[in-house]
Amino acid sequence: MTYQEAYDKLAAYDQTHVLQFYDTLTDSQKEELLAQIEATDLEVIRGLAHKEDTLKGTVTPLNAMEIDEINESRAHFTEMGLNAIKEGKIGAVLLAGGMGTRLGSDDPKGMYNIGITKELYIFECLIRNLLDVVKQADAWIPLFIMTSEKNNDATVSFLKEHDFFGYNAQYVAFFKQEMAPATDYEGRIYMEDRHRIATSPNGNGGWFISMERCGMLEIVKKCGVEWLNVFAVDNVLQRIADPCFVGAVLEKGCAVGAKVVRKNAPDEKVGVVCLADGHPSIVEYYELTEEMMNTKNEKGEPAYNFGVILNYLFREKDLEELLEKKLPLHIVEKKIPYMDKDGNFVKPEAPNGYKFENLVLDLIRELDSCLPYEVVRNYEFAPIKNKTGVDSVDSARGLLKENGVEL
Ligand code: UTP
Repeated sequence: MTYQEAYDKLAAYDQTHVLQFYDTLTDSQKEELLAQIEATDLEVIRGLAHKEDTLKGTVTPLNAMEIDEINESRAHFTEMGLNAIKEGKIGAVLLAGGMGTRLGSDDPKGMYNIGITKELYIFECLIRNLLDVVKQADAWIPLFIMTSEKNNDATVSFLKEHDFFGYNAQYVAFFKQEMAPATDYEGRIYMEDRHRIATSPNGNGGWFISMERCGMLEIVKKCGVEWLNVFAVDNVLQRIADPCFVGAVLEKGCAVGAKVVRKNAPDEKVGVVCLADGHPSIVEYYELTEEMMNTKNEKGEPAYNFGVILNYLFREKDLEELLEKKLPLHIVEKKIPYMDKDGNFVKPEAPNGYKFENLVLDLIRELDSCLPYEVVRNYEFAPIKNKTGVDSVDSARGLLKENGVEL
């Protein structure tokens, strides 16, 4: 991108201050800044003018396929799932582009060592779980790993150094998610240096569009993959490409399957599956009203009782239809390190602006059908968000031990 093209792009969004130090930069810094301006989606800033509520429409319960029902058909679902895996129809997508700020490590979250007497990395736990299925199906499952500009190099070299923890490198591909600019409360882009816009990964909902933009989707289709099992980096117990789950979603013919756990309290902070105007949707915990918490289903149990764990099986061709759609933007208040007008770097103690995120749940809201599929919480849900306390390294260690994993 030339200087003039960059200037014009910025001018359209009233952001030409990004180039204010241009004349003082070295040639390579100029190149870097122009490349970053080219790669940055500035359209998101317009979102500030019309912040959207996430939940829309009339909310009604969506029944989950519960464990008893799954057990009755377990053998049949598992066989169907294994066949689909053997036929190469199932791919796995690891969402590892997040910043993991709550965990507070400078490295990508997957590089975190949760071992006590020996090394055991988060990536290693996930790959081991996936290898169980590879063994069971006697077939490799393509693993697509989404990183971001901020953590890609560290992630790729770490996994290479560890020989992909035994995974076949030919079946691993990396792609980077897009970045979004961070702004102050007036929508003015922050700079993190004279030649760098302050950016952060654009949320976990951008994975499919990022796959398409970087050409990875073509590879997915060429491989014959029809379903993508998207999962978060931080749940060390989750089962990936779980044959029984795959079989259940295929059998029911839904556009997406969502692994869910029974909530441990009516006000637990997890998103809950539901219908909104007849479409599958997710109510965030802060949107759940007293009335919804008290609503009972035909069995007399809470009707909004199953929380999502960020493990979804999407039918690829349904997502292609969404590529042209504009997903809602979530505007999140954050602490954004920036360079002040005198060129000093500032690390704020309190939130000072916005970042912009797409979320996976917004993809679900665009689809026609969803199968919430219950999994046993203590076997499949050990998220690591914090160092200690709820959803932490400590709680995940306890759950890993409970499941016989040596630490
Ligand atoms: P979280 O919502 O927990 O965000 O991500 P995070 O960035 O990892 O952590 P905090 O909030 O800063 O502490 C849930 C999953 O979505 C991925 C994460 O890597 C994790 O697997 N994610 C999140 C992305 O891949 N990209 C993003 O932009 C955000």
